[in-house]
Amino acid sequence: MRNFIRPDIAFLKPYEAHLEEGNVKLDANENPFPWPSGMREELFSQGFSFNRYPDGSAAKVRESIGAYIGAKPEEILVGNGSDELIQIVLNTFGGRGRTLMIHPPTFSMYAAAAAITGTSVLEVPLKNGTGLDAANMLKSGTDVIIICNPNNPTGSLFPKEEILRIVQSSEALIVVDEAYAEFSGETMVNLIHSFPNLLIMRTFSKAFGMAALRLGYVVGNKELITSLNKVRQPFNVNTFSQQAGITALKYTSAYQEQIEMIKRETQMLYHELGQIQGIKVFPTKANFLLFQPVDPDRWAAALSAKGFTVRNLGQLPGLGKSLRMSSGTPEENQAFLKAIKEIAETEGVER
Ligand SMILES: Cc1ncc(COP(=O)(O)O)c(C=O)c1O
Repeated sequence: MRNFIRPDIAFLKPYEAHLEEGNVKLDANENPFPWPSGMREELFSQGFSFNRYPDGSAAKVRESIGAYIGAKPEEILVGNGSDELIQIVLNTFGGRGRTLMIHPPTFSMYAAAAAITGTSVLEVPLKNGTGLDAANMLKSGTDVIIICNPNNPTGSLFPKEEILRIVQSSEALIVVDEAYAEFSGETMVNLIHSFPNLLIMRTFSKAFGMAALRLGYVVGNKELITSLNKVRQPFNVNTFSQQAGITALKYTSAYQEQIEMIKRETQMLYHELGQIQGIKVFPTKANFLLFQPVDPDRWAAALSAKGFTVRNLGQLPGLGKSLRMSSGTPEENQAFLKAIKEIAETEGVER
């Protein structure tokens, strides 16, 4: 039979989420808490006309997001999660004959979206696996640069001045993916007016605990947003998710309490994991952390057998084999620490 697939994407593997039924899920950097009290009832009590198409311009949710981040609605574009936005960005500013620069190890969807959109990829690895190599990033020409800050999977937060140096000195369009900004407490959203080549990407999937509803947004000057609007699907965000975003933004103080708790718990996990012989753990400014037990594959399997799903990232450039876990609830984290200490005892500590 004829091979119908485009040869340049035949190598791709479908994204596989590893669902381990019944396990505590610590593999996807989600918010482990239920929505703030009253939010679900408020959202579900609204009269939705599901027989009608959504508001394709997503006007009201863009207004709410604008008030939340301090931008104008016309400086915002929403998407079906930031995953969709990455693809829209590359369909608009990347594509055949153009290049995307990324800094491995980083979020895997950038390279996947590049392949799908026919964009070439130029990799400038992080220094020692965790630091942004601004000097090298500025050496090569490129069309689009995606900087993930804080970076998934390392948890590192890059200095603002270094990112700014790239934004100021590069001819490229710079996308700063701030999926975890609510945890790091740092954002560059306010700089979109100063730099016409800067786009900031955010999501409701992490701090707002809305991963299932697929709502992300990108912020930039009006010209960039107008370009992206030419490319996106007309009804890319459904009515329910638009309304969920609007509702969530009425609960920011309750969310802030969750965020503070998650930050405390993540730092507690960092400290506790660091005490366990046979584990190397990396500092983090997000709601997850990267760690390297003596034998990551065996430890991931052992954790899974004890009821905890972490992300086995395999071999990371500059870092080697690594695992990543997000913070669970305080109870889940305590149970996780008990389990991993038991594993440390049985697995031995030889590095
Ligand atoms: C850095 C980064 N960007 C984007 C995403 C995707 O977010 P969304 O759920 O909005 O598609 C993730 C999810 O893990 C991520 O880690």
